[in-house]
Amino acid sequence: MNPNSLTPKPSTLRVELGDRGYDIVVGAGLINDAGARIKPLLKRPRAVIITDTQVAPHYLARLSASLKSAGIEVDAITVPAGEQSKCFAQLESLTETLLEMKVERSTTLIALGGGVIGDLVGFTAAITLRGMPFVQVPTTLLAQVDSSVGGKTGINTRYGKNLVGAFYQPKLVLADIETLETLDRRQLLAGYAEVVKYGFIDDLNFFEWLEQNGKTLVNGTPVNEKHALRRHAVLTSCAAKARVVAEDELEGGKRALLNLGHTFGHALEAETGYGDTLLHGEAVAIGMAMAFDLSHQLGLCSGQDATRAIRHMADVGLPTDLTGLNTATWTTDKLMDHMSRDKKVESGKLTFILARGIGQAYITQDVTEQAVRELLTRWLKTRS
Ligand code: NAD
Ligand code: GLY
Repeated sequence: MNPNSLTPKPSTLRVELGDRGYDIVVGAGLINDAGARIKPLLKRPRAVIITDTQVAPHYLARLSASLKSAGIEVDAITVPAGEQSKCFAQLESLTETLLEMKVERSTTLIALGGGVIGDLVGFTAAITLRGMPFVQVPTTLLAQVDSSVGGKTGINTRYGKNLVGAFYQPKLVLADIETLETLDRRQLLAGYAEVVKYGFIDDLNFFEWLEQNGKTLVNGTPVNEKHALRRHAVLTSCAAKARVVAEDELEGGKRALLNLGHTFGHALEAETGYGDTLLHGEAVAIGMAMAFDLSHQLGLCSGQDATRAIRHMADVGLPTDLTGLNTATWTTDKLMDHMSRDKKVESGKLTFILARGIGQAYITQDVTEQAVRELLTRWLKTRS
């Protein structure tokens, strides 16, 4: 694709969910005019921005100023950065701070940050006063292409990730791709795993575009070209996600496709403790490599496609095997046990997203435990 053909004006997509439908706006510099974009959606001109300690120094003042200049009364709450904030204690503290501020049902919460803030604030909005409106202002690539869209909100528990939450849709998503400038490269790459996922699921053309442009998108200079590529990637990803969510909001069926690589990935995250050792997107990248490997092992996907999928992730810089992880104490049984806690387990049967090729993912419950065990045992044998 010629990046010069991309318009620099923000682009808007719609998540078609009837009276719960909303726009996703993608562009550079959106935070600066967020107030004007958010104001028409508000019942009352009052908002509380909730962000984290790492994002606040970069964007909180700008977002507050933009809201204030649109005539919106603004408060702000900053929570500690990191996955550990997606917990009951933080949820309790947040809801109590909001109640102390005397928020009303007409007050809008604004989630300014990555997926942690989006999930936590979305769930807070779902339950405080039995439901307050909220807006997503995602600032990581992962949040812009995945977590800010679709209304999955929640927190982690000692039994696993995202096990307490609600489907609760935002009123608007503002994805300002300029915010990715301050994101560190590892986090950006982790988000790229969720971008390439859309190619793997059902869009071979997008995957081929990523093969050509992925490295520049992640590393690129000059800045204009990089921005144009990122815009295109975020828009294509959001359009794909919006389509799936519109068809299957509550994950009765097709939405599970978006979990390609996640059943394996969640098991790896559980073993590494949901922290910096292995970021969510990195776990998803390894999980997608496992899913392609399993698809090939089961004779569903050609070795050529499986290798091509995995090679692209590795070329861009994503992890695609267990190298570098401290896996000495890991066993097939432990990984199987983590997977058995997956939210997609039905009557004890695991659901897997497999692929007949790149762009041909499908949902199945027909994978035998033995096949999964064989795969995990083989992967654990080849760890470094
Ligand atoms: P994150 O929110 O923890 O952000 C990663 C780090 O980057 C944090 O330290 C954050 O403070 C910092 N950061 C964010 N934006 C920044 C910016 N522009 N500049 C500098 N630093 C910035 O992590 P994430 O990867 O965005 O999200 C991961 C979370 O998303 C997980 O909890 C995962 O379960 C969840 N998730 C949810 C969904 C969903 O559909 N709801 C989908 C995928 C992932
Ligand atoms: N991230 C997967 C989903 O939103 O369904």
